[in-house]
Amino acid sequence: MDNDVSNVKRTPQEFEVMNGGGAEAAEKARKGFSRRQFLRRAVGITSGVVLAESVGLGLYFIYPLATGSFGGIIKIGKKTDFPAASPLEFDIENGKGVFYQGSAQAYIVHLSADTPWVLQGDSLKQQLEAEWIVQDTDGTYWAAFWQRCVHLGCKYNFKTDCRSFKCPCHGSHYNADGEYLSGPAPRSLDRFNLSFQGEDVLVNTGKLNTPLAPYNLPGVPRPTDITRLLVEQQIQFACQ
Ligand code: FES
Repeated sequence: MDNDVSNVKRTPQEFEVMNGGGAEAAEKARKGFSRRQFLRRAVGITSGVVLAESVGLGLYFIYPLATGSFGGIIKIGKKTDFPAASPLEFDIENGKGVFYQGSAQAYIVHLSADTPWVLQGDSLKQQLEAEWIVQDTDGTYWAAFWQRCVHLGCKYNFKTDCRSFKCPCHGSHYNADGEYLSGPAPRSLDRFNLSFQGEDVLVNTGKLNTPLAPYNLPGVPRPTDITRLLVEQQIQFACQ
């Protein structure tokens, strides 16, 4: 004898009396489902969907890191692919000191060890750190600037004749080290985290020093007389 009432076959009419009636109850009866079985299966299906979505979302965030595509850590080349130069020698067409990397959506700058910084000693060290400018073991300096202007997001360019970055939309102007010079931009250029792995240069395009969500960092404010790293050279102002 079958003691499990859920397995007892009943007519739709009997099931309606037991379960409050309605077409849904009749249909469940027809398929031999009890309400409990129905709920158990519904919970199982929902859990499966939630689990699949969780795994999918996890993979979505992990995938760029695994593949080296934008949004993750990108190996952009060897150190020797980016010859250093002092800011007044920067030349993007001839690959001196400043380089565009489409895969990282970034400009890479490699400043020579004799770069004429305004600050010195500990003040220089602290300000470089605050502006995500990395000093290499050979004394040269590196940074990776996101290609989006911090005013309204246009793609800006490096202008070799100005030795500086200029935005074509509303004229924001940034020094060779990414510091704000003039125009409506509220701050200096945003930067990605740049690091080294042996002789390889890595740009973490998932780590940006910007106030945009989900980052809560302040970005690099417009320089003041006590934070400015590079002098505002004459050649840059000829490009206003
Ligand atoms: S978007 Fe660059 S100056 Fe406005």
